[in-house]
Amino acid sequence: MFGSSLKQRLKHKHRHSDEKMTALKAASTPVADIRFDNKDFKKVFDLVHQLTGIHLHDGKRELVSARLSKRMRALDHKSLGEYLSYVEEEETQEELISMLDALSTNLTSFWRESDHFDFLAEHVLPDWIKRTEKTGCRRYRLWSAGCSTGEEPYGLGILFYHHLQKIKGLDLKILATDLSTKVLGIAQAGWYEAQRVQTIPAEYLKTYFSKKTEDRRIVYRISPEIRKLITFDRLNLMESWPMTGPFDIIFCRNTMIYFTKQTQQHLINRFYDLLRSGGMLFVGHSESLAGTDHKFRYLRPTIYEKP
Ligand SMILES: C[S@@+](CC[C@H](N)C(=O)[O-])C[C@H]1O[C@@H](n2cnc3c(N)ncnc32)[C@H](O)[C@@H]1O
Repeated sequence: MFGSSLKQRLKHKHRHSDEKMTALKAASTPVADIRFDNKDFKKVFDLVHQLTGIHLHDGKRELVSARLSKRMRALDHKSLGEYLSYVEEEETQEELISMLDALSTNLTSFWRESDHFDFLAEHVLPDWIKRTEKTGCRRYRLWSAGCSTGEEPYGLGILFYHHLQKIKGLDLKILATDLSTKVLGIAQAGWYEAQRVQTIPAEYLKTYFSKKTEDRRIVYRISPEIRKLITFDRLNLMESWPMTGPFDIIFCRNTMIYFTKQTQQHLINRFYDLLRSGGMLFVGHSESLAGTDHKFRYLRPTIYEKP
């Protein structure tokens, strides 16, 4: 349905035109009857899997219809079939991007699965500081693959910067990528509401955020020294990757869970190839490399090292 030229175009960032934004804002009246036909659900599942690796199935129908009906109402489409035809025909492919944005699950938080951050602080960073003292290697490269709204890469940035900043000539860089342009916009802005920063250890919050009141709401902004460590970019994990690595750490947490086992297997091997020897892969707490064929050494649940 969509060929490789589309995949190329999907790599670039797209924005809604002003015209479309106006249409979206105006579309506040819900359309009463939106029709969802079985064959059209199947089309959505196939398209999303083909383009993103995300595995949707009949059990996700409710989620798909809830999320897509917002788009359909905004565009005044009466059926999923009509909406899909529009997605296919629309030349800029902005609506396809919006559809993928709507269907991806972006749940995240600061210090999510905090034992990963504890493990880095207590075991990995002290060892790596010794390695730097011994070898003089000051290069640290991290990748947050499926970074959502930025809490994960900013957390890594804070932790690494805090522990490594004394190293003269420190060369620390973090790549943060996601499929969704919507979440990347939020991540890049780096503003978070008060309730979202509650899970950040107090010392880090005080040191690496500035507090501001906007429209009577308190918001926190990540500090420039952390922001400048991080490059946000759109990257579909299913496509080719421009980076050559090697990375010291790859976080791909709560992202592969939406992929089939076969896709996970393929990705895990690609992560392996991009890590340096001694580098580590962190996956989400409900994920595991068990049952996949890989060369990683198991360190502890959800943490794997390249020998
Ligand atoms: C649930 S969030 C996880 C965020 C963060 N890693 C965490 O654990 O808190 C999953 C993210 O993966 C992204 N994603 C899904 N499929 C993707 C793909 N094919 N390529 C890149 N990112 C993808 C989604 O857009 C979403 O932001």
